[in-house]
Parts: sequence; C-alpha cells; structure tokens
Amino acid sequence: MNLNEAALRELNLYPLWVPREASLAQVEVALSAPTPIEIAPRVESVALSLPPQPSAVPESVSAHANLGWDELQGLVRDCRACKLRAGCTQTVFGVGDPQADWLFVGEGPGVEEDVRGEPFVGQAGRLLDNMLAALKLKRGDDVYIGNVVKCRPPGNRTPEADEIGCCLPYLQRQIELIQPKLIVALGKTAATALLGREASLASLRGSLHDYRGTPLLITYHPAYLLRSPTEKAKAWQDLCLARDAMKARKG
Ligand code: URA
Repeated sequence: MNLNEAALRELNLYPLWVPREASLAQVEVALSAPTPIEIAPRVESVALSLPPQPSAVPESVSAHANLGWDELQGLVRDCRACKLRAGCTQTVFGVGDPQADWLFVGEGPGVEEDVRGEPFVGQAGRLLDNMLAALKLKRGDDVYIGNVVKCRPPGNRTPEADEIGCCLPYLQRQIELIQPKLIVALGKTAATALLGREASLASLRGSLHDYRGTPLLITYHPAYLLRSPTEKAKAWQDLCLARDAMKARKG
C-alpha cells in the first residue's frame, strides 16, 4: 500500500477513483468505511471562485508589524499576556516552512503538543498528517502548521475570547511573514479568529473565504473528525477544493 492509499484509507475514503485529467467535477468518491458513511454532495456543486486578489500586499494588521520571524518567536516564547502561560509547559509557536504556500491553522496545543513544543503531534496530528498526505503534502515541505493560541488551554478546553485576543496578533504577524497562497482553517476557533465573525462550520465549509486577500478554506478540525468519522468525506471534499484553489493560484 502506498502512502497516498494509506492516507485515504485513514480518511475512510479508499478506494478513490480519479479519472485521468480529473477535475473536481469528475472526482468520484467510493466510501469503503466499515460503518455507513454519509456521502457528501458531489463536488461540482462547490463553486471554485477565488476571492478578489489585492493589487498590493495589504497593510499590516498585526500589532507586531515590524517584527521579523526570530523576534516574533522570542516574543511568543516570553509572552505572559494571558492566563494560559501559567498553566502550560511551553509555548508552541508553529512548525514548518516559514515561506510555505500552504498554511494550516488549528485551535491551540493539546497535551502532547504542550510537551513536545510542536503543533498537531497527537492523535489529531496523525490524522492531519494523513490529510496532508492525501494532498501529496507533508509537514515542513511547503507547509506551515500553526495555532490560534500558542499555549495549551487547561483540560484542552476551547480558548476564551480574551486569550484569543491576546494571541491572535502573533498569528496575524506569522501570516504576514509567511505570505501563504492558501490558508486552511481547521475547526471553528480558527475559522472565527481568521474571519472575525462567528458562524456554524457547516455553513462556512465548502467554499472559499478571504483572509486579507489570501484565500481561506474552512474545514473540520481533525479532532472532530476522529469523533465524527462520517464527516471525513466532507473534509476530503474541502481538501479537494483547497487543492484546486492552490492550483489556480499557482497558475
Ligand atoms: N489541536 C489543535 O488545534 N492544535 C494542535 O496543535 C493540536 C491539537
């Protein structure tokens, strides 16, 4: 079994038949999960329209507008702006290529991430790695993975608004420095933080949004997919949209 096949099996999406010269509209997904799976709507119903591209790099929104990567990393390491730092082992800045085309954004570190200082290294991280592999991507290789908050919330609870408020400028500066071609928000916390408004994930997924001129794709968090495996088909559909959006951006 090759890596891609293994990744698709992990996503409960194997076998996947993709005709030669496949386009999104041609992708037929055959679900082979042991449990019945809701078949996601066919992908042609998803409009692939890129948000308008700005003619120039947008002005900085970050409170850390003049900081370079290393300075930003130092600032995060020393941050005591909210109550989270007192309860975690270390800050988790992010991992990967700081000039990546792909940026994946999660919510915040969990137990294993807190210990290892790297995002998405636990069970949800293994699923994320498989989702990346299904796109023929891997962490560190044209991919950057970060989180909305850099410190583990106690008991893995959702970060609170004030905690997100303190930490978001770091992510905003990371995005300004990375200048990704596409951002993938994993779950509602990342979606809300990047969009600046709240809506259900079901209503946000399946189409492209805009984060200050960069296409933003919103999909389910891998931890949610582990709890709700029947949603994996929709996540795969979102990833196909992301893949096509990236192709369109690269030209
Ligand atoms: N969940 C997240 O949102 N981020 C991580 O780094 C790990 C789990």
